[in-house]
Amino acid sequence: MFDYHWIDGMDINGEAPVEEPARQYYFMKKCKQWAAGEERRLGRKLTLSMQTMGCQMNARDSEKLEAILSYIGYEAVDEPAADFVLYNTCTVRENANLKVYGRLGYMKNQKKKHPHMKIAMCGCMMQEPGVVEKIKKSYPHVDMIFGTHNVYKLAEILHTHLQSERMIIDVWQEAGGIVEDLPSKRKYFFKAGVNIMYGCNNFCSYCIVPYVRGRERSRRPEEILQEIRGLAADGVIEIMLLGQNVNSYGKTLEGNMSFAQLLREVEKIDGIKRIRFMTSHPKDLSGELIDAMAESSKICTHLHLPLQSGSTKILKDMNRKYTKEDYVSLVERIRERMPEISLTTDLIVGFPGETEEDFQETLDVVRRVRYDSVYSFIYSKRTGTPAAAMNNQVPEEVTGDRFQRLLHTIQEISKEITDGKVGQEADVLMEEINSHDSSLITGRLSSNVVVHCKAAPDCIGTICRVRLTESRGFYFMGEII
Ligand code: SAH
Ligand code: SF4
Ligand code: F3S
Repeated sequence: MFDYHWIDGMDINGEAPVEEPARQYYFMKKCKQWAAGEERRLGRKLTLSMQTMGCQMNARDSEKLEAILSYIGYEAVDEPAADFVLYNTCTVRENANLKVYGRLGYMKNQKKKHPHMKIAMCGCMMQEPGVVEKIKKSYPHVDMIFGTHNVYKLAEILHTHLQSERMIIDVWQEAGGIVEDLPSKRKYFFKAGVNIMYGCNNFCSYCIVPYVRGRERSRRPEEILQEIRGLAADGVIEIMLLGQNVNSYGKTLEGNMSFAQLLREVEKIDGIKRIRFMTSHPKDLSGELIDAMAESSKICTHLHLPLQSGSTKILKDMNRKYTKEDYVSLVERIRERMPEISLTTDLIVGFPGETEEDFQETLDVVRRVRYDSVYSFIYSKRTGTPAAAMNNQVPEEVTGDRFQRLLHTIQEISKEITDGKVGQEADVLMEEINSHDSSLITGRLSSNVVVHCKAAPDCIGTICRVRLTESRGFYFMGEII
């Protein structure tokens, strides 16, 4: 889909161009020349180990990073150590950070054994000044550090490092313009994520994302639609539109295209059979979007609608801008138009000041809405966010106990929902060979629920009619009809 002749045709004898993306093409070609020399020196292909943490945004960035490295000459391997090791980090909760430091410690010895190894760190964690300071001090074996706003510059950063052989730190506090027309390497040939916007303006009081991903910026609709048409021409049948709050898509653009209007345009693209999107903030979910979903034959029957807490008081302290009643009545409106829709959500347990009564309000919404599945998180204090400064933090034992009770309720409901669907027929997009049992293919229903079927690998990438034969709580076993 991406035409690599653009890069191969660059003249790299003179100065680097100033404009993007030509500048990056220049550095990609320069690095490729260097890598070819390395390959001859080592007598083998160069290897790449890429570890991506966090959400779909990082997953999508990693596809762009991998394409750059793959053009340069690196081949991805499934091992922790390689000629190029890249960590694309997440910092939404504290435990993600601890894991990264653990891995960096391990890499210290690896690099002693293989001094030519390059170690690069990027992603949300690198946007925190304290983190970069710590890496500089305690992990000097890291070669490159960059952030979330300049992933497209990887080749230039590598080139600068090769010139100086020093640790290169290039983290921007603010986003520059959106750079289009760079290559990307998809994990699946039949489905793809497409960024429709970057950043977030909501500043939920617990959340670090607005600080590490910057202000909300929407991509122009023509660029998005052109990308999706290209993907469809390349055999992609499922598209996931990505943004921290897709419901406010278009607000930063001239022309005022809404998210619902964008969806209607995506719907028109031949070849695309399934459309998904993440994430919808309840405060911005419009009637127009409900109509677009209800009238569509391609938008999946699934909506991820993060609740975070069922207590109006906690929601106010979280700066979510809706009440428990607003949320429940929104769900009622959605279900009136789409009775079959599968709802999923995110919940935080133990936000500062959460009492047992507040927690009961969350359980109450969970019981009333009956989610197909729930991502529940224990509140994690993020330095710099308003909630971290609140002086009524909930003790760990209390949070742990609530978390267990919440899980129990969620599991019971999910099981009831899946049990009730056994025997039904449904369309399943067959996605990959099951990692535990290679005679099974794992796929997804339109509702996003997983189904495992006995099938041959050549069905991967197609939509098959399946009978759901058995419920296993969160997922199904099925038979191709
Ligand atoms: N933009 C998305 C969510 C991005 S972060 C949205 O608004 O829904 C994904 C989830 O991580 C959030 O929905 C929230 O449930 C959780 N999360 C964010 N910050 C957290 C924190 N400090 N502690 C625990 N969970 C958190
Ligand atoms: Fe974080 Fe809230 Fe933005 Fe989601 S909407 S990324 S939870 S600040
Ligand atoms: Fe994590 Fe960054 Fe996503 S903090 S959840 S990877 S936007």
